[in-house]
Parts: sequence; C-alpha cells; structure tokens
Amino acid sequence: MTPVATPFLPGQAGERVAQLGDRARLCGLYDEDGSGVYDDLAAADGFEIRDIIIAVRTLDGPVLDLAAGSGRFTLPLLALGRDVTALDMSPHMLSLLTQRLARTPERVRERCTVVQADMSGFTLRQRFAHVLLGTTSLSLLDSSGRAGLYRCVADSLSEGGQFLVSVLERGGDGDPDEVVQRAHGASGTPYDLYEYWPTGASHRTVTIVPADPPPTGHVVVAHDEVPSMSISTIERELHQAGFTALDQRELTPVGQRHRVVLIKAVRA
Ligand SMILES: C[S@@+](CC[C@H](N)C(=O)[O-])C[C@H]1O[C@@H](n2cnc3c(N)ncnc32)[C@H](O)[C@@H]1O
Repeated sequence: MTPVATPFLPGQAGERVAQLGDRARLCGLYDEDGSGVYDDLAAADGFEIRDIIIAVRTLDGPVLDLAAGSGRFTLPLLALGRDVTALDMSPHMLSLLTQRLARTPERVRERCTVVQADMSGFTLRQRFAHVLLGTTSLSLLDSSGRAGLYRCVADSLSEGGQFLVSVLERGGDGDPDEVVQRAHGASGTPYDLYEYWPTGASHRTVTIVPADPPPTGHVVVAHDEVPSMSISTIERELHQAGFTALDQRELTPVGQRHRVVLIKAVRA
C-alpha cells in the first residue's frame, strides 16, 4: 500500500508516520511522552554550551536559565560554581532536571532553584547577573509573548546584568524544503530528525522518529511547529524593549541552513 502523508505532518515525516499507522503515538517535544526523546537527544548535544560558559564568565553572580528544560545549560553553570535558577513551563522537563540534580553532590544541588513558570510572564524576587535564553527557545514565543519576556528579563537583571539570548534564522536559501538527519541520543538510540521549512514559511515543522523502532507496539513520534523569525526582527524588538546589544557572536558557520547568533544585551 502506498503510504499517504497525514494531514498533520508535511513531507517525508508525514509519509513516515503514515507508514507507522496506528502504531505512531504523536506527541509534543516537551510533554509526558516527548520529553524523554528530547532529553535523550539534548544530553548528547553540546551545541552552545561552550559559548554560554565563556559569556557568563565575564560577570560574577547568579544566573537565571530560562526555558531550562532538563538542564543542558543549568548543570554546566552549576559546575562553574554559579547559583542557578532554572525556569521552565513543562513539568515533564523539570522532572528530568530534578532527577539529574538528585544525582549531583548536595553542595551543587543546593545552588539550584527550580521554578515552573511561563517565561513570558514571571516574577522572581532575586536579581541576576545573567539571564540566559539559549537553544534559540525565543522562537517558541509569539510577538506578545516576546514582549512579556523582555519586560520580565529587564525586571530580573541586576545593575549592569546581561541578557544572553540565542536566535535562529534560516541561513542558506538554496536548501531543500525538508532535511532529514540521523542523530543518536545519549542512550545510543538512533533517531531520524525531520525539519520541514520551506523558504519564507511562517514556521518550521520538527519531527523526531526512532530510526529503528521495535517491530510491534507504539512508536513515540515527537513533533513541534516552531515559528520562524529573523535576527534583525529580534534586534529591533530588543532595542524597542530598552536593551542595548553589546555583542553578537555567530555560533554557526556561514551558509548553513540554520544561522544562529548569541546576542549579549544590557538594559540601556
Ligand atoms: C528547545 S528546549 C530547550 C531546553 C534546554 N535549554 C536545552 O538546551 O536542552 C525548549 C524548552 O522551553 C520550554 N518552554 C516552551 N515554552 C515555554 C514558556 N512559554 N515558558 C517557559 N518554558 C517554555 C520547553 O518546555 C522546553 O523545555
């Protein structure tokens, strides 16, 4: 039988899910089913960590890690000796972080505060030398969510504190609409990562399917639709929200499908 793409997922990802039929269990990247898949891949992904550690080293003081997930940045920041507040909206991702913290020595664990909240509207009593929003997670918010986030970040920074935010835009225009990559999680499980992102589209669809699922039973297919944005839009929004950019570091080589920059900004 010729597989038919599902109405939910475009391109090859849709065909793959159609082949799985009733066995496919579609879920979000950060919910009860998908968080385990995301975490497995994140634990094997070192992207950005070094750049963030270098940026944070320039100022002493506590760090607020926004959209912290299962702690890909939180744990290296704790290892650097910082007090870290890890904020995320997903109880499932925070549960994975808490399990990870439980395996660290008490003197490390006690420097971490875990907060479940929406990054577009939160209030914390503490002020921070750095507020970090990495993994280009800014793109998970729409424009009104971003406006709320900028207000909360401004209120959370101590005098002279820095906002570190990574932003992703589409790089090479000549790329195909969809790319498929094989990646291994920290557990060794291979996954196929589909990204459907036609040039000029308002969002990209990310789908993760185990490359080698067992012959029977459910197969967890994690997917998300992530709004597209441009780096210049974010620069303009930051300026309008009262921030001055101090520095902008390219995190990806020129001409790749993803152009990612790390912006360091302070309140003007
Ligand atoms: C791409 S993951 C990044 C997680 C972690 N920083 C990492 O590098 O693995 C995005 C995270 O943002 C969280 N998230 C999504 N929307 C959010 C919101 N409005 N407020 C707080 N966290 C949010 C998700 O639960 C998820 O853990």
